[in-house]
Amino acid sequence: MRVRYKLRLNESYFMGIDAQEFLCAELPTVFRPELGTVLIAGATGYIGGRLVPELIGRGYRVRVMVRAESPEYRERWPEAEIAVADALEKDQLLDALSGIDTAYYLIHSMLIGPKKFSDADTRAARNFREAAEACGVKRIIYLGGLGDTRTTLSTHLASRSQVAKEFKNGGVPTTILRAAIIIGSGSASYEMINHLVRKIPLFLVPAWAKTKCQPIGLRDVIKSLVGVLELPETAGRTFDIGGADILTYEQILKTHAGILGKKRLFMPSPVSNISFYSYITSLLTPVPAAITWCLMESVTHDVICQENEITQLIPFRRISCKEALVFALSREEQDAVHTRWSDSYPPDYELAIKLREIDGPPTYTSSYSLVTDKTAQALFQSITRIGGQQGWFHSTFLWKIRGAIDRLLRGVGTTRGRRSSGTLRVNDVVDFWRVEEIVGQCQLLLRAEMKVPGYAWLEFRVDPVAGEKNRLSVNAYYKTKGFWGRAYWYIFLPFHHFIFDDLIKQIERRSK
Ligand SMILES: NC(=O)c1ccc[n+]([C@@H]2O[C@H](COP(=O)([O-])OP(=O)(O)OC[C@H]3O[C@@H](n4cnc5c(N)ncnc54)[C@H](OP(=O)(O)O)[C@@H]3O)[C@@H](O)[C@H]2O)c1
Repeated sequence: MRVRYKLRLNESYFMGIDAQEFLCAELPTVFRPELGTVLIAGATGYIGGRLVPELIGRGYRVRVMVRAESPEYRERWPEAEIAVADALEKDQLLDALSGIDTAYYLIHSMLIGPKKFSDADTRAARNFREAAEACGVKRIIYLGGLGDTRTTLSTHLASRSQVAKEFKNGGVPTTILRAAIIIGSGSASYEMINHLVRKIPLFLVPAWAKTKCQPIGLRDVIKSLVGVLELPETAGRTFDIGGADILTYEQILKTHAGILGKKRLFMPSPVSNISFYSYITSLLTPVPAAITWCLMESVTHDVICQENEITQLIPFRRISCKEALVFALSREEQDAVHTRWSDSYPPDYELAIKLREIDGPPTYTSSYSLVTDKTAQALFQSITRIGGQQGWFHSTFLWKIRGAIDRLLRGVGTTRGRRSSGTLRVNDVVDFWRVEEIVGQCQLLLRAEMKVPGYAWLEFRVDPVAGEKNRLSVNAYYKTKGFWGRAYWYIFLPFHHFIFDDLIKQIERRSK
């Protein structure tokens, strides 16, 4: 089976994936220098993160809009201007939009949870539209969701459609693209399909798995976003964008099983409760319940293009679902995933409080260290490989138990994995942690995103000591006020000793 998988991936290499650096190289539209600076709101998200390099590569001046200042953004997009603005604060948007001709709107608040995102998304879109009007922006390009607005839409699709309405009713001509599920490396939909097919030998198929859907490859989404920018006549119009084929959800799973060379059984199920299926999906895949619910709530509605005019206006070959899955798999195989659904911040935004922003010192700290003659470079490389498929080098089962408890409590769990197994950048997810800071080859600071009664950080450090040696240390920091927070710290303290003491020994042993 393994051989077949490899063979199929090799087939895909012949399709020229490796050679193709810029997705839009063969777009029939042409660069429009008169557009000046193009703003991308939602640049830190899954789609925005892929669009920025494409536009820069095509010659556009780009301003990325982010919610928080971070040196990581300057490193990631040295050619781009950075504007800091929260779309829920209209005043902040005026600076971000000033001098802009065209703005992409790729903001989405799905991660704040099913109950709150709809209201936040509408408010953000209204603020953005009003600020764009005030700044004299000539066009907005919005990527939303595909769904038949004549039927009762899920909360998620209804919210996407509400945002579209907000722009349509405004004074800035808006191009609206509507997409169903997007298949690309790092997309939530792809990771759900991939993990389910790999882990489940027998699928109990609910009635809604026969619903039709028109998935689109990430590369075709990016091409469409760039294509409409370069076609002024698409301003003020709505287009459905989809891939080459229409499939049921069951067929998509079967297609992926075929690509992986895995035999999977599919049997009808009497149970079709979506909450149940989305919860199970969250337990079996890296994608947490807040997102699986939003995505799966829509599964009872057909999501297929109601018109295909864009294929005439911007002609290029739309790839099939199978090709999109193969591209995504091969990107993973090459450890070349550029953005991931997990790049956006977690549900409670205040979780993002940084260690150096807390009032006073952490309530508790525990530190473990050793001195070694290994180089700082080798030690740091070993540190940056923790988590994901490699596990935690020692007592991985304990991390997994902690992660499973977190998932049962609808937290993010440890199964989120990592974007890349070899490289880390600020804001990347590492299981239930997120990278808060990387300082040269001497510090990696991770912030906890699992459910904890307080705020927790894990710091890895490499510091030079006398005799050309280095001290490798791990420090756990915890800030809490309440009784349960204190109790939590003391309950886990013996485990800390057991886990961290050996973790640094393993990091040292694996550094070459
Ligand atoms: N991904 C898909 O499979 C898919 C499928 C169909 C349609 N779409 C559409 O494509 C668009 C982009 O989706 P995506 O998957 O790229 O979303 P995403 O990964 O969740 O990214 C959302 C972006 O919005 C930003 N954001 C959220 N709230 C904000 C606020 N108040 N102010 C400023 N920025 C804010 C986030 O910034 P932070 O990093 O600061 O959180 C992030 O950059 C959405 O409209 C979505 O409906 C996506």
